[in-house]
Parts: sequence; structure tokens; C-alpha cells
Amino acid sequence: MACVLDRQADYNSSLCRWIARGEFIGNTFGRQALGIIWDFAEVNPFSHASGSWSGAVEWVARVIEANADFSGQQATVQQSSATAHPLPNDAATLFCTDPPYYDLVPYADLSDFYYVWLKRSIGADHPSMFADTKTPKEQEIVQLAERNKEYSYKTRERFEELMGQAMQEARRVVEASGIGIVFFAHKGTAAWESQLQAMINAGWVVTASWPIDTERGARLRAINSATLASSIQLVCRPP
Ligand SMILES: C[S@@+](CC[C@H](N)C(=O)[O-])C[C@H]1O[C@@H](n2cnc3c(N)ncnc32)[C@H](O)[C@@H]1O
Repeated sequence: MACVLDRQADYNSSLCRWIARGEFIGNTFGRQALGIIWDFAEVNPFSHASGSWSGAVEWVARVIEANADFSGQQATVQQSSATAHPLPNDAATLFCTDPPYYDLVPYADLSDFYYVWLKRSIGADHPSMFADTKTPKEQEIVQLAERNKEYSYKTRERFEELMGQAMQEARRVVEASGIGIVFFAHKGTAAWESQLQAMINAGWVVTASWPIDTERGARLRAINSATLASSIQLVCRPP
């Protein structure tokens, strides 16, 4: 239900446009940004139209059904910064990560949009995750120095330092015969240099790379523009 409420928030903000070519309401996060728009449309959440509460229930239920695992196996999920991992040395055979893409997305700021609703819906069940009024920003591994004066300290050097720590932590946790997979996508060479340097400095050896289509072709950002449609999976191993 918390996911349904979040989906409603996504379809009920003053950043929702009317999509004329399909005659339905667009969501807030058509791309990973809160962009200024000329005008907005409102949906009646109690209708059965696109963007309604019942539609959100349907979509969330479909995702849960598609991903449900009835094998009885259990997983443990824990929250921590990638720079200080809770697992002991050599504990894992595989590590797989989709790290921040350098300067592309201000993840923590955007997360606040949902955080304030999640805090109200499931905050009492997970008090340690919702202790603050907003998401933590300090340890976020992103390069935002030129984007926002408030984040002038989030420089390229800081990105490399923190990403280096995260990659070292991954190296510490993965056993010598283990394997790592790092997703990455960016059009700029500075971003690639920073990411690869952090991995090499941490002692990883990149042994293969695969491009995989990971983005929806119909997403707003892809319409009438040349955008990244794929990410690269970097396969790496301890030396
Ligand atoms: C490319 S996104 C991953 C998106 C994810 N695969 C998904 O589909 O939702 C990178 C993520 O890294 C997170 N991140 C940034 N700094 C981090 C840190 N120090 N420790 C752990 N996660 C961090 C960001 O908040 C963001 O959610």
C-alpha cells in the first residue's frame, strides 16, 4: 500500500502534464528530474481513469505478482552506505551494483519526493530508516559541484574518493575467486575515467564488458531525442 500511495503522489503533483497524443495523464517522474512545466493536469484519484488509485493498485499488484518467489527461500535486506559495508571479509561470491552515474542524477534530492510519504506510511515500522525529516545527503556519491552551490563540496575528487571507498569495500567483501558486476552509463569521458579509476585503484581487474538495453524506449526522455538506451555491464574480478 505504501508503493500504491507513492504511485498516487507521482500522478497527483503539479508537475503532471496532460499527454495529448495518448489522452492520458503523465507522471511526475517522466525523467529523473523535477522540471518546470507550463501547466498541469489533475486526475480524480477515485475515478478508474489513468493515474487513479485503483489503477495504482493494479500496477503495483502486477509487479509483485511478476516478481514473487514461491520457493520459500528468504533474503535479507539491509541499509548502509556502500562506503562502509556491514558484511565481513570474503563473505560473498558475487557483488552486483548499479552505482550512481557520476553527475547525471541528484538521487537524494529526488528521493525526498517519496521519502516524505513513505515516512508517513511505513515510517513507524522502520524508525531507523526514517529518523530524519529528509533523506541523508552527506554520503551520497555524486558529482553535483557545478549544479548546485549547496553541493559545491560534491566535486569530481570527492566522487572518486567515495566511489574508491565503495569499490574497496566491495573488494574486501568478495572472496578471491569471486566476481563483480558494475552497471554504468554515461556519455562523458570524465565520468567513465572516474568510475574506472575507482575500480582499478580498489584492486579490481575488468575482464569483460557487455552493453545491455536497460531503458524503456517509450520513456519521456527518449522521445524525439538521442539518449542513452543501454548501460554497460563491467565484469570484474580480484587479481
Ligand atoms: C543508478 S542508481 C540505482 C538505481 C537502481 N538500480 C534502481 O533501479 O532503482 C544509483 C543509486 O546509488 C545510490 N547511492 C548514492 N550514494 C550511495 C552510497 N554512498 N551508498 C549506497 N548507495 C548510494 C543512489 O541513491 C541511487 O539510488
